[in-house]
Amino acid sequence: MNTERGAIGDSQSFQGWIVLRGNKLAGVKFQNVSKVFGKDVKAVDNLNLDIRDGEFMVLVGPSGCGKTTALRMIAGLEESTGGDLCIGDQRVNDVPPKDRDIAMVFQNYALYPHMTVYDNIAFGLRIRELKGIFWQLSHMSDAQRIKQDIDKRVRDAAKMLSIDHLLARKPKELSGGQRQRVALGRAIVRKPKVFLMDEPLSNLDAKLRIQTRAELIRLHRSLGITTIYVTHDQVEAMTMGQRIAVMKDGVLQQCAEPETVYNQPANKFVAGFIGAPPMNFMEATIKNDGQLRVDVGEFSLPLPAEHPAKALVNKPVTLGIRPESIFDANLNNPVAGTDANTVEAKVDVLEPLGPEYTAYLNIGKHNLLATIDSATKIKEGGASKFVINLDSIHIFDGETEVAVR
Ligand SMILES: Nc1ncnc2c1ncn2[C@@H]1O[C@H](COP(=O)(O)OP(=O)(O)OP(=O)(O)O)[C@@H](O)[C@H]1O
Ligand SMILES: [Mg+2]
Repeated sequence: MNTERGAIGDSQSFQGWIVLRGNKLAGVKFQNVSKVFGKDVKAVDNLNLDIRDGEFMVLVGPSGCGKTTALRMIAGLEESTGGDLCIGDQRVNDVPPKDRDIAMVFQNYALYPHMTVYDNIAFGLRIRELKGIFWQLSHMSDAQRIKQDIDKRVRDAAKMLSIDHLLARKPKELSGGQRQRVALGRAIVRKPKVFLMDEPLSNLDAKLRIQTRAELIRLHRSLGITTIYVTHDQVEAMTMGQRIAVMKDGVLQQCAEPETVYNQPANKFVAGFIGAPPMNFMEATIKNDGQLRVDVGEFSLPLPAEHPAKALVNKPVTLGIRPESIFDANLNNPVAGTDANTVEAKVDVLEPLGPEYTAYLNIGKHNLLATIDSATKIKEGGASKFVINLDSIHIFDGETEVAVR
């Protein structure tokens, strides 16, 4: 139900408050926003990020990189120490949390221990939707309708999160994962302008996490509410985000669509953080002996003549090769093997993963991971030839670690 402000009932007195919240979409904009704790803990460092109306944005990065702090600033629970934060077209730096129309699922969520699951989910709605109505008898029928609507929303959300059989229980009678879903339900039913979710699936087991992930994506599609979702799990980021913002030490490293972050990582950190198994890195030098090459000592790979690495001849770089860009030369591969892209490696360990193996390869001093089709005949301890997809190798500046492309 997306009834707009004042659209319910025939009384003018409804005009001033929202009965059933309309989806008034709102983007969130960080402009040079910083948060310094104490003297010198830069939790968020000059963040510029423009989250669009109705977008599902994932903030991802390792522990301590400033994800929660960024979310808490949007919610108004943390004051920024610099910059401007806007929700929609309003600068909200000085707007108190309760007036920001935001629902946040906290990393350390807290449920009301004395209330049932049902009441925990319905509580916020009741406060918001029913406050101020009872003093006017003429509005009692509307109050009834609102109650019914709340009931429907609570039950729909509970069903979606598979906790509908738990509505009468108290939090202490629930598992950690079930409690986390109650906290999610409490946010979902409110239909706010912006959802903030801080690792909301971390306590769920793998199966339930995948299921709830899909439910959240579906929910976002149907409600279209701007959602900012924090996780340190790059798989979750890749599968859920319309765009993902990768952070490190309070600094935004790259913000782009998942495919872009994966295929064109801005720097070595992003390249290593996104993708599993992680990208292989090798110290290398750019050479030009008539053919521009990236040389790791044991082998070298040709680069197109116009590759920007030509400005780095004889300079140190890092060569990055994703495990899925390495193929068993004896199989039918999407990339043809030639002298230029084929290397010989010792197969150290083979880890079966069903449709593929993770192969631990040695080429001289270099240890590489490769994702190899399970049709492979390579054996642990043997040596074999491998084909590298030259179209998907990455080169990073040896000093700045910025991608050279
Ligand atoms: N209240 C605080 N006082 C001082 N330092 C803080 C405070 N809150 C966070 N920090 C510091 O700010 C940095 C960012 O913390 P934040 O909680 O935002 O990280 P995070 O990315 O959410 O990490 P995690 O994945 O572990 O939840 C960390 O170095 C942390 O120690
Ligand atoms: Mg956190």
